[in-house]
Amino acid sequence: MGSVPRRLKTGIIGCGNIAPAHAQALAVLPQSEFWACADVDSAKAASLASEYSVRHCCATLDELLASGIEALMVCTPHKSHEAIVTRAAEAGVHVLCEKPISVELAEADRMIAAADAAGITFGVVFMRRFWPAAQRIHQAIVSGAIGLPTFGMCQALLWRPESYFAQAEWRGTWAGEGGGVLMNQAVHVIDMLQWFMGSVAEVYGKYDTLVHGNYIDVEDTVAATLTFASGALGLVQAITTIDPQLGYRVSVHGSNGASLSVWENPEGTQGFNDIWTLDPTGEQRARWEQEERDQPGFPAFHILQIEDFLQSIIEGREPAVTGAEARKSLAIIEAIYESSRTGQPIRFAESPS
Ligand SMILES: NC(=O)c1ccc[n+]([C@@H]2O[C@H](COP(=O)([O-])OP(=O)(O)OC[C@H]3O[C@@H](n4cnc5c(N)ncnc54)[C@H](O)[C@@H]3O)[C@@H](O)[C@H]2O)c1
Repeated sequence: MGSVPRRLKTGIIGCGNIAPAHAQALAVLPQSEFWACADVDSAKAASLASEYSVRHCCATLDELLASGIEALMVCTPHKSHEAIVTRAAEAGVHVLCEKPISVELAEADRMIAAADAAGITFGVVFMRRFWPAAQRIHQAIVSGAIGLPTFGMCQALLWRPESYFAQAEWRGTWAGEGGGVLMNQAVHVIDMLQWFMGSVAEVYGKYDTLVHGNYIDVEDTVAATLTFASGALGLVQAITTIDPQLGYRVSVHGSNGASLSVWENPEGTQGFNDIWTLDPTGEQRARWEQEERDQPGFPAFHILQIEDFLQSIIEGREPAVTGAEARKSLAIIEAIYESSRTGQPIRFAESPS
């Protein structure tokens, strides 16, 4: 007889755009009993609660934490992440927070410290790491199949219309979003690039607002160079003015000449390996592409990461993406902003890991 899986009472705070990706996971995963949700906008909380038959529909974080939840998904705007995560940690509730971890390293450090002090599990959503195509590149690097990685590049080649920024007050502002294409979109592929390439030692970058300036004050165009602690070099290209968009891409080259790449195009679909020179005939790569290109993209990989997170609590191990791991992409982004403002390269005193 199989053992009965442990179910954790789960909840969501912030019932906006991304909440359904979490709700679908919490409703179907055997590790979850979808217990409570909350939003400062009571209509949004009520709508999610009724769609997913959630037991407790709450107006405040305090009410949510008092409902008996054991694990909380934080789906609120960037600037609210710190206060919610630290309060949940103090209440002994495990937390999976949407990306970016926060918009300042000082905030991230307080969040990580609060989680450590409370002994709770703290993870951050970077669901693209769960694509088979991304796992394959990571594994190829770890196994030494490309020698030493010598060059890595990440690209967010996206389109965001004026209507996107008009959806909510917090979007497109330094005060609400903490940045533009780097902080909100490119953070996904910056996380993946540093996961592939290792710690970053130096950053030099420029950002500007070249097209969307009439309705946002954050950047829409970024170019940056990276020097990794290993000595490898890298590039970050992040743009939200490309119409039609060309998706997200992360590519690496190794000291034995190999090139590997993962491409998500269009945005929201599953990434596939568009370059894989370790397979000279190209047959294996073509087979993977056929298998994965038409598979569900968004939100299937939220389900995988949320399952890993809940399972990590049950097993008492670290989740796939910890708060400390998510801090690394924020450190790179903060350094690109600082470099652009000062005109200087930013060297990390010690690696941002
Ligand atoms: N992983 C992904 O692919 C992905 C995609 C979209 C958004 N996100 C992230 O998810 C988060 C939310 O983004 P969104 O697009 O869903 O935003 P949104 O504006 O659509 O929804 C945010 C919701 O949070 C509520 N809210 C705001 N402050 C609150 C508070 N203090 N307490 C309770 N509720 C509060 C708002 O009323 C709103 O309903 C952001 O961190 C964003 O970067 C991740």
